[in-house]
Amino acid sequence: MKKILIIGAKGMLGQELVKVFKSDKDYKVIGWDKSDIDITREKEVDKKIGIIKPEVIINAAAYNAVDKCEESKKEFELAKKVNGLAPGYLAKATKKQKAILVHYSSDYVFDGDFEKILAREPQGCTHSCATCGLHNNQELGFCEDDQSNPINKYGETKLRGEKEVAKNIKNYYLIRTSKIFGKPSKTEGAKKSFFEVMLAAGKKNKEVKAVDEETSCFTYAPDLAKKTKEIIDAQKPYGIYHVTNSGSPTWFEACQELYKLAKIKTKVTPVSGDEFPRPAARPFYSVLVNTKLNPLRDWKEALKEYLKNKK
Ligand SMILES: NC(=O)c1ccc[n+]([C@@H]2O[C@H](COP(=O)([O-])OP(=O)(O)OC[C@H]3O[C@@H](n4cnc5c(N)ncnc54)[C@H](OP(=O)(O)O)[C@@H]3O)[C@@H](O)[C@H]2O)c1
Repeated sequence: MKKILIIGAKGMLGQELVKVFKSDKDYKVIGWDKSDIDITREKEVDKKIGIIKPEVIINAAAYNAVDKCEESKKEFELAKKVNGLAPGYLAKATKKQKAILVHYSSDYVFDGDFEKILAREPQGCTHSCATCGLHNNQELGFCEDDQSNPINKYGETKLRGEKEVAKNIKNYYLIRTSKIFGKPSKTEGAKKSFFEVMLAAGKKNKEVKAVDEETSCFTYAPDLAKKTKEIIDAQKPYGIYHVTNSGSPTWFEACQELYKLAKIKTKVTPVSGDEFPRPAARPFYSVLVNTKLNPLRDWKEALKEYLKNKK
């Protein structure tokens, strides 16, 4: 039986990871959240992990308040500790146990420069025309090995975390994901997903506005949890993976689909990002291209299941 430690076990993703691994008798699952371990304390991390000696450690703990850490120096300091330094402490403790570390990062480590993506030659193309089939079929977005270049403070902290993991351990899976949705967590810092927020707004208003930009992929937490287990069980090569549901809508397109599926009559008006000023800049286009794994199902299918499970 494999002993697996899931940190951030009460978070939106963490609770699904606990469920998925508990359903397999080959795993003994230990789930810890902030009351069990503070990952920003290096000695505590080393000591507590040293006592239970897991073979796999999954870190689903994070600081996720993108705008708060842009505005407040104190919050940014906290984000740097949780997202930036703590993954390094976990990596060192995991290495000491000769275990495997799984850590999550974000599409926000990329700048979202769409022009740069468009200008890139597709894999296999030997000339620079834009007419061959390869150009038409290529999936536009950021691949696993693309240059990161965050444009907000949250993205900077997630990138630091990626670097700390890579610096301190070889046996790691770094899974980048984006726009997670699922059952909300019940923890102190719980953040509502976009769909949760828009469902509430749709029930209260006759019209809502949604940004018709920031194209990226949604990720259903139970699908990400299952794919994480598949990666571990298949003993995939260590390194970076991109895991999101297939399809890449803007916020506006996603909201339209949500209301259609939930039979909400509220009108959705598309607006530009400028009409919704938020403290942190968002990448204009941050689709994560997955070149290593079988793709997850389409986000619309996952959204249907999410709505069915909410009833
Ligand atoms: N949510 C998204 O849209 C999104 C997008 C891209 C990437 N990601 C990444 O995906 C992963 C999972 O995200 P999620 O949305 O499931 O996160 P989440 O729901 O916010 O859960 C994170 C958990 O970590 C806990 N935590 C915070 N600080 C901690 C500390 N110092 N020590 C121990 N635990 C601590 C939180 O507790 P409290 O709530 O009590 O603080 C919470 O239970 C993260 O790495 C995140 O950065 C998320």
